[in-house]
Amino acid sequence: MSDFIKIFDTTLRDGEQSPGASMNIEEKIKIAKQLEKLGVDIIEAGFAASSPGDFEAIQRIAQVVKSSTICSLCRAVEKDILSAYNALKNANSKRIHIFIATSPIHMEYKLKLKPDEVIKRAVSAVEYGKSLVDDIQFSCEDACRSDIGFLKEISKAVINAGATTLNLPDTVGYILPNEMGKIIAELREFIGTQATLSVHCHNDLGLAVINSIYGIENGARQVECTINGLGERAGNTALEEVVMILKTRKELFKNLQTKIKTQEIYASSKLVADITGIRPQPNKAIVGQNAFAHESGIHQDGILKNRQTYEIINPEDIGIIQTNTLVLGKHSGRAGFKDKILSMGFNNVNEKELNGAFERFKIICDSKKEVFDEDIRAILNEETTHIPQVFSLELTQISANSSGKYCAALSIKKDGVEYSDCALGNGSVDSILKSIDRISGINGKLKDYRVEAVSGGKDALAKVVVKVEFEEGKPAIIGHGIDIDTMNATAKAYISALNSYLSMKDLMIDKINTIKI
Ligand code: KIV
Ligand code: ZN
Repeated sequence: MSDFIKIFDTTLRDGEQSPGASMNIEEKIKIAKQLEKLGVDIIEAGFAASSPGDFEAIQRIAQVVKSSTICSLCRAVEKDILSAYNALKNANSKRIHIFIATSPIHMEYKLKLKPDEVIKRAVSAVEYGKSLVDDIQFSCEDACRSDIGFLKEISKAVINAGATTLNLPDTVGYILPNEMGKIIAELREFIGTQATLSVHCHNDLGLAVINSIYGIENGARQVECTINGLGERAGNTALEEVVMILKTRKELFKNLQTKIKTQEIYASSKLVADITGIRPQPNKAIVGQNAFAHESGIHQDGILKNRQTYEIINPEDIGIIQTNTLVLGKHSGRAGFKDKILSMGFNNVNEKELNGAFERFKIICDSKKEVFDEDIRAILNEETTHIPQVFSLELTQISANSSGKYCAALSIKKDGVEYSDCALGNGSVDSILKSIDRISGINGKLKDYRVEAVSGGKDALAKVVVKVEFEEGKPAIIGHGIDIDTMNATAKAYISALNSYLSMKDLMIDKINTIKI
């Protein structure tokens, strides 16, 4: 009989705590739907009490995601738990996740509470949560620097109060694998089968994945992780790595398995990278762009003779389709385009999105001989994100004068009316963004600007990702733009950040400054 390891994904909560990874609500919904498709057991959709934006994101995800459990994080305080409950009300399956710190340093300096006061607070929080929802997870924050005797004491108390999952985070990424194994084994022995044991590891020493694996080997049956290992500081355990370790070396893990549909890993990684603008490093295991690239002649020769000589994972197992069965171009019709996107796994695209994507595909075909999978994926990822388009770009014209100044003249539509203006700047990007500020009447501060080619070739589409601060002290907003012309892509990215800002303006607060223990 096989034993299932539950995959608890926290891309939308701990992952969003990555510097610069804040997402808008539509983007979070899109990621949540992909996580459901990937087959994760639990989606931690946010921290309901931390901001109105998190509350609304959890609420909307709870309405649309049906097969994964939806979870909200809470401090061990009634107000947070009630807020989580309210946000989760419509979920098919809901979980409340309560945490409090248990290490001496956190209890003394951060909480300013004695250990017995921490236990009291934890128990009353779990009891309150249990009066609202059955599925309660309790986390001992900084568990791996806590006294093991105290961990046992608090674990017993919260399980008696109704906690069904006990999570032991390595909050600061400090522990070594054998130490993690020992803690989990000892707690497993102590709590028996009264609750599911869970691990949540941070990657400060590069050990998050291996620590999670040691946790599993010693009795943890839930792993908390994020797509691409996104997360606070050096990140969290990478979902794709843990899942593929268990699958690739299944003979070592006896009958342990996950419910993850591994063929959705690549699409999930791409989507999270596209939305956050944070790409995995090229040599990142499983999803890095070089993960399946064989440079050396000896390796290539081996691969041609038998892939398994140098390849331990079949790229198709994570959803990388290697053969482009249909090369799309100018003469491809709507039916061919539809077949292509279905073969790429985009099977939830509605007619309107399909038409929008096809129209853009046709425009791109006018300037590009061949359109690659990556181009199509980029177009579709944009077409299926529904942020209200308050502003849309009509025209960009840039000229340089002899004194080195650039002038950008832009036309932008709002409510069907076209507005035009121009601005001088130090370079084309500066002049474009200034011109958009003049037309919209909203001044943004550019915090980050990145441009990359979506696929290969001199005529590759340009993808621009910007991070813009529209209000001081509020999180910077990410915007994306794709175009055959880099400056058009720049204008589109800035306008997309502006639209995103307008859609969430009233829900934005600086979480870091408001949530204190
Ligand atoms: O790292 C951590 O301790 C956490 C908890 C809140 C679960 O993210
Ligand atoms: Zn964490």
